[in-house]
Amino acid sequence: MPNSAIARACANIAFIKYWGKQPASDNRAAVPSLSLTLAGLSTETEVEFDSNLSADQLVLGRTALEGRPLERVKALLDRVRAQSPNPAFARVQSRNDFPTGAGLASSASGFCALALAASSAAGIASDAASVSALARKSSASAARSAFGGFSVLRAGADAAEPLLDENAWPLALLVTLTAKGPKAVGSTEGMLHTERTSPYYATWVTHAPKLFEQGYKAVLERDLERLGAAMEQSTLMMHASMLAAAPHLLYMNPVSVRVIETVTALRKQGTHAYFTLDAGPHVKVLTTPELAASVRAALLDVEGVQSVIETKAGPGATLVR
Ligand code: DP6
Repeated sequence: MPNSAIARACANIAFIKYWGKQPASDNRAAVPSLSLTLAGLSTETEVEFDSNLSADQLVLGRTALEGRPLERVKALLDRVRAQSPNPAFARVQSRNDFPTGAGLASSASGFCALALAASSAAGIASDAASVSALARKSSASAARSAFGGFSVLRAGADAAEPLLDENAWPLALLVTLTAKGPKAVGSTEGMLHTERTSPYYATWVTHAPKLFEQGYKAVLERDLERLGAAMEQSTLMMHASMLAAAPHLLYMNPVSVRVIETVTALRKQGTHAYFTLDAGPHVKVLTTPELAASVRAALLDVEGVQSVIETKAGPGATLVR
């Protein structure tokens, strides 16, 4: 039986946000989310279980990692070992095809690729739903990267579900980098802090399902205007809950705000472009493939924008070997 495997998974961007966990639930989401898996922003991960090892090892790019990143990887490997007939420690080698320190989401692609590679290497169930469930326990957004195109993770769900495949609705997503360097507070920490201290958190949890229903319907109807409106409201409501935390969490920077204003101005001129931000300062702008070049040019004109990466819908996690 093979004891090693290589898997690739793409990042995903939530149009309807996950922010908050169900209490004592092994990382189940408190709110439903909906995302697009992206072509081009991917992680490739090799896992090799080796009975000669005395501990798990993790290498990202050329750097051996310890501390919290290694702990999170070990926790996933422990879940796999619990189901494996011959548990052994593992060597994990991972590579992103996008800049890791830039604050672009890497936990979704990373944990999804790890979940698929580790399950396959251990010979346990590695269908998309099982991989999604395993990835979800490490990072709930990673559950959605098991599927290509649009996928959803419902509140309390074990795994994500596919909604529309990557060829069903051609869209362009412009990842607008507004800062250098990694984000200050990671999303896990940021959301736990919001849950604990923000008086707006309860309101967010109450309203999030309505935005999810709007976004879900808009995707099925290929209605970009409605999807964009639900996405922007989900983004800003999530950020409002963080702003009301004590101490507050402010992920946007002045460049992010200028990008939001530019997108809003483009729309007033009749251009279909819509913004979203996660737990970081970069702004992702959703538009059509036809409008992508002109929207990209407008974004590059915004003072302080570092670069704009154009992406589109991508595939679900796949086994490379
Ligand atoms: C703002 O999935 O990174 O990107 O489950 O604690 O690992 P953990 O959190 P994570 O949170 C992602 C939050 C978000 C919104 C989203 O992707 O839905």
